[in-house]
Amino acid sequence: MSAADLVLLLNDRLVPARRATISALDRGFVYGDGLFETLRTYSGRPFSLAPHLRRLARSARVFRIPFAAAPAYWQPRVRRVLRANDLLTTDAAVRLTISRGPGPFGIVPPERVAPTVMMLATPLDPRLPDAQARGVKICFFPFRLAAATFPSHKTLHYLPAVLGKMIARRHGAWEAVYLGADDTVLEGTTSNVFAVARGRLLTPPLHGILPGVTRQVLTTLAKRLGIPLREQPLTRRALLAADEVLLTASTIEVLPVVRVERTRVGDGAPGPITRALQIEYRRHVARALAEPRRRRAPRTRAQRT
Ligand SMILES: Cc1ncc(COP(=O)(O)O)c(C=O)c1O
Repeated sequence: MSAADLVLLLNDRLVPARRATISALDRGFVYGDGLFETLRTYSGRPFSLAPHLRRLARSARVFRIPFAAAPAYWQPRVRRVLRANDLLTTDAAVRLTISRGPGPFGIVPPERVAPTVMMLATPLDPRLPDAQARGVKICFFPFRLAAATFPSHKTLHYLPAVLGKMIARRHGAWEAVYLGADDTVLEGTTSNVFAVARGRLLTPPLHGILPGVTRQVLTTLAKRLGIPLREQPLTRRALLAADEVLLTASTIEVLPVVRVERTRVGDGAPGPITRALQIEYRRHVARALAEPRRRRAPRTRAQRT
């Protein structure tokens, strides 16, 4: 699907991407004054919609951008976008973007704003199944990030991620990993990082990184599987010496890493703990998506879409 063929939900109206317009003074464009979320849908059903909306709502409160976060409001809109893009029967990535809306020009925002709200759905990266099966390479982002970029919020300031993904592509890598000032591993440009050392799952603490929805799910699954998990600072060296490394994010789920720059991870194939987590994650998603269905009352014909 080319970008021009997309149909967007822009300010609650379905519009073909090639005809969709926003103001040239939109603060999202002029100042990166906005936020976003990306979640994954499985055969038309969003996974972890509520935690994604909660994270967005929390950031919206911090930056004082009006945003209505009720899952009951967004659920049917996700379906509308999926249906308009013929993505109801496959898995897809759904992105919800909100900006503070149009100007006037000047950094201080006006008292009253009309946020621009856009939702789009795209097919998943076609390389993903192979990457999940065989594992991927990652590299390190060559610059240190300042906390002033608000790493714990998904703001529209994603230039480091854009650069990181370009660097990763140049290295033949899937992802670039941000390092802190003291060479500690922070997170990927669009993923959280875990390592396995001596049977223990390690992940950097929630300081200067995004509180990933998938990261949170993984901590629960590790407990369920009896895998000891520790949130602790992880040095670059420790990552290079790890027995297993994996990335998490809503779209990629649990993605094994088999190479960190020039260093092979373990024996160069996804390790047993990563495999166990991949399987458990899939089971967890299947259970979570089946739950509300079982509880939901049968729909009338008019409700069926
Ligand atoms: C910087 C960053 N860290 C981590 C993640 C993973 O978050 P989640 O598991 O909520 O998709 C993302 C997702 O895009 C991200 O942009």
